[in-house]
Amino acid sequence: MAANYFENKKTWITGASSGIGKAMAEELAKKGAKLVISGRRKEVLMQLAKELLVFGAQQVEVLPFDLEKEAERQNALAELQKIWSAPDILILSGGLSQRSLIRDTELKVYRRLMEVDYLANVELSKAFMDRWQNGQGQVVVISSLVGKIPTPYRSGYAAAKHALHGFYESLRAEEPHIKVNLICPGFIHTQVSVNALTGNNEALGEMDQAQANGMPAEVFAKKALKAIQNNKAVALIGGKEVWGVQLFRFFPGLFRKIIGKARVR
Ligand SMILES: NC(=O)c1ccc[n+]([C@@H]2O[C@H](COP(=O)([O-])OP(=O)(O)OC[C@H]3O[C@@H](n4cnc5c(N)ncnc54)[C@H](OP(=O)(O)O)[C@@H]3O)[C@@H](O)[C@H]2O)c1
Repeated sequence: MAANYFENKKTWITGASSGIGKAMAEELAKKGAKLVISGRRKEVLMQLAKELLVFGAQQVEVLPFDLEKEAERQNALAELQKIWSAPDILILSGGLSQRSLIRDTELKVYRRLMEVDYLANVELSKAFMDRWQNGQGQVVVISSLVGKIPTPYRSGYAAAKHALHGFYESLRAEEPHIKVNLICPGFIHTQVSVNALTGNNEALGEMDQAQANGMPAEVFAKKALKAIQNNKAVALIGGKEVWGVQLFRFFPGLFRKIIGKARVR
């Protein structure tokens, strides 16, 4: 294994303007990666690009676009391919959570969560299938513990994250020369709950206690880079909440009783 796995690796990160994606971009910059950073907010990305160059990134390009809009995704893919023919590593961190009960949630919220959290990632990944035939491609999907377990108030988010596991495990089976890493964060201190959708398609605008007390994004990023370097198929990263996945697997009845009563909102 190379001493510095990430040095000069062409790495495209979505969701780089905040939280987990931003922290991973910073860690990768310190390791001398080449970066294309994406999100919707161009000004935020431009400012981050300057910082990443100071941290040691070998190249930084800003590629803003909206994951929800197919035309913007297509345009971003065309722009990316003007910079590099394909990334060595594609990190899919752009995403949107949810805080609403099923009974209170409009169908358009489910459509939006599926588009941003699932379909956008499928489209971006599929674009490089041919170029990754050389064994150089690696796709890193930032899923969630909620991709492995059910949770109240996050039905559409859980469905989209579960869908990622179905798709990317299938990709791994079909294309064994493409490295696929599904990374499942627990509670990480980011803006995820502030930006989460409520039942009527508006942002929650509040920091959840669990996020405020969660693992710092910088700590998460270091662990995630280790999982990527070690080509972990699935990595669960967080605090004691990660045990929920094992509990659901081995004692599903007990887990269902606990989660039904849990204060998760
Ligand atoms: N934090 C946690 O506890 C936690 C736990 C499990 C999983 N995750 C996952 O981690 C990933 C990153 O979330 P985070 O915690 O870092 O939250 P965050 O601080 O809210 O960051 C979300 C990122 O996604 C981007 N994004 C959201 N909607 C977008 C859209 N329509 N088009 C383009 N970019 C979009 C945002 O960029 P712009 O605003 O600039 O568009 C931002 O960079 C998500 O997939 C989330 O589901 C987080």
